[in-house]
Amino acid sequence: MSPAGRLWERLGGRIAFGGDYNPEQWPEATWAEDVELMQAAGVNLVTVGVFSWAMLEPRPGELDFGWLDRVVDLLHEGGIAVDLATATASPPPWLAARHPESLPVTRDGVRLSTGSRQAYCPSSPAYREAAVRMATAMAERYGQHPALALWHVNNEYGAHTPACYCDVSARDFRAWLERRYGDLAALNAAWGTAFWSQRYGAWDEIQPPRLAPYSSNPVQELDFHRFSSDALLACYELEREVLGRLTPQVPVTTNFMGLFEPLDYWDWAAREDVVSHDAYPDPEDPVSHVDAALAADLMRSLRLGQPWMLMEQAASAVNWRPRNRPKRPGAMRRISLQAVARGADAIMYFQWRAARRGSERFHSAMLPHAGTRSRVHGEIRALGAELGRLAPVVGARVPAQVALLHAWDSWWGLEAPDHPSTELRLADRIRDHYRPLWDANVPIDVRPPGADLSAYRLVVVPNLYLLSAEAAAGLERYVAAGGHLLVSFFSGVVDEQDAVFAGGWPGPLREVLGLAVEEHWPLAPGETLGLRGPDGTVLGTASQWTEVVIPAGAEVVAQLAGGDLSGGPAVTRHRHGDGVATYVATRPDPDAMAALLAAACADAGVDGPPLQAPPGVEVVRRGDAVFLLNHTGEAVTVPLARSAASLLDGTRHEEAVELAPGGAEVLAEPAA
Ligand code: GLA
Repeated sequence: MSPAGRLWERLGGRIAFGGDYNPEQWPEATWAEDVELMQAAGVNLVTVGVFSWAMLEPRPGELDFGWLDRVVDLLHEGGIAVDLATATASPPPWLAARHPESLPVTRDGVRLSTGSRQAYCPSSPAYREAAVRMATAMAERYGQHPALALWHVNNEYGAHTPACYCDVSARDFRAWLERRYGDLAALNAAWGTAFWSQRYGAWDEIQPPRLAPYSSNPVQELDFHRFSSDALLACYELEREVLGRLTPQVPVTTNFMGLFEPLDYWDWAAREDVVSHDAYPDPEDPVSHVDAALAADLMRSLRLGQPWMLMEQAASAVNWRPRNRPKRPGAMRRISLQAVARGADAIMYFQWRAARRGSERFHSAMLPHAGTRSRVHGEIRALGAELGRLAPVVGARVPAQVALLHAWDSWWGLEAPDHPSTELRLADRIRDHYRPLWDANVPIDVRPPGADLSAYRLVVVPNLYLLSAEAAAGLERYVAAGGHLLVSFFSGVVDEQDAVFAGGWPGPLREVLGLAVEEHWPLAPGETLGLRGPDGTVLGTASQWTEVVIPAGAEVVAQLAGGDLSGGPAVTRHRHGDGVATYVATRPDPDAMAALLAAACADAGVDGPPLQAPPGVEVVRRGDAVFLLNHTGEAVTVPLARSAASLLDGTRHEEAVELAPGGAEVLAEPAA
């Protein structure tokens, strides 16, 4: 059995339900009540110790595990399993007092201070040694404890300190560069240091891209992103090595943050036993559930469809936006069921009991300040009971025929300065591609460039600025073998060293796409052009970006109407081998984008959803279950082809499922 499998075996095959538990913030008299209330709510797993380092090691080397022993024992007696943090997310103040150099330094040279959290330089030997000592002590102390179900390394790596620019980081950056390039000549070539007198004659002349008079070298920036993700990953790996050695039977995770720019989660997820994710969709944003779905799909995809954990969400409001609205009644249930639909086998929260002190005292919790009779706690208990009935979906897969390509290094490169436009944001562009597919209830996997794509009927590539020869060759083979590919503008512009492809773009994809882009022609904010079919049919509008596209075999599907490039190709289609490759050289409006993607899905033979539902109703198949989530404020009816039973309460739906505004249902069997 896989280590992750052991976690759910430990939970009796049930969905994990619980949250961060910070008993050190409360008098010991509260703990027994906590456990009783957890039991009443159906909690079976809690995360303990995330920010406990200063309580566990009050002075350097002086360990005080007594209180944590009692907490872990109490939870165990109460039948609640423990996701035990290694407690290294926030070093105690003594670390900075003894080692001021362990505090992180910003790009503009400011050394950050203590009194908050995550105040450490990822490359700091003092931090790393202290963290490894702590993780070792935790593993030695609790490795055999029967409550221990999962290791939770650190917490949200990089959330506040994604990179450090101090001298220690500079030294590690140089070592990283030496490993990458071998010698200075190779570095000088890759970084293009013939430009602006940047040539390096010795390794120690190289610095992180600190605040400089003008633009920094783009490859120095890109490599520093790579290095910074790796520096934090090295911290994780140091702890993971200890845990793997001392407790090989216990699965290990560290919690991610969805589409989080600083860390290359493809690299990270490969080193975890199970992916876990913290999701805080904004209750004030009417479409935040679409972003939540996208993040869920990414989390499921990071380990090839393996079930993942929603490690943290808010029971209601958070404290960290300028205005923090509570979740409306039913919203927390619906968004939790959405996570399960999209592959989560854990629904957890930050946090169990609302804090009375500290920066997060206005953050909601499973047990709010208002107590057990509150609306929020009532919804928590009800959801706990419902999740108890969803055991049949645990371990089940979410099938997808469409893949969306995403790469972190391309993201870092794309959003760098000194481009034709600095107004492109990859997350927005991904949303432009994701939203129409979400609306059509087409399931999506996210894959990295270079992945095996043969299982997918359609591959969507939003703005893959940086493209390796290997990834391009993979895409070519995919199309030649009959695959359908849709590539959006400003893709294939540079290679892995951010060197611009010569001879037109998208560099090594020109042949597959049957065209070459000669010039990038960005549009001003608010500038909108027409999109027309070759016969003049109105297809919609285009904004943000246009390109001078020279077809070389590709057929023009849409043209620009108006602007400097009026009449030029906006969308093209090219047969290559047994497949078809579409290029989108602009940003179509949402309806035009939806039409394009619908045509691509139809062309590629992508199956429709298991049920046809009104707009705003999410339909997801997971294993044999079909989830229906009504994200609208209206009651809706979803017709059924044949009767189906509710997994949540056993109700038999004959001809249709009626969903209340914001309501949800899970059908037990395929309802096709
Ligand atoms: C993150 C952290 C938690 C807490 C929540 C608040 O997810 O991991 O410790 O600060 O945010 O929303």
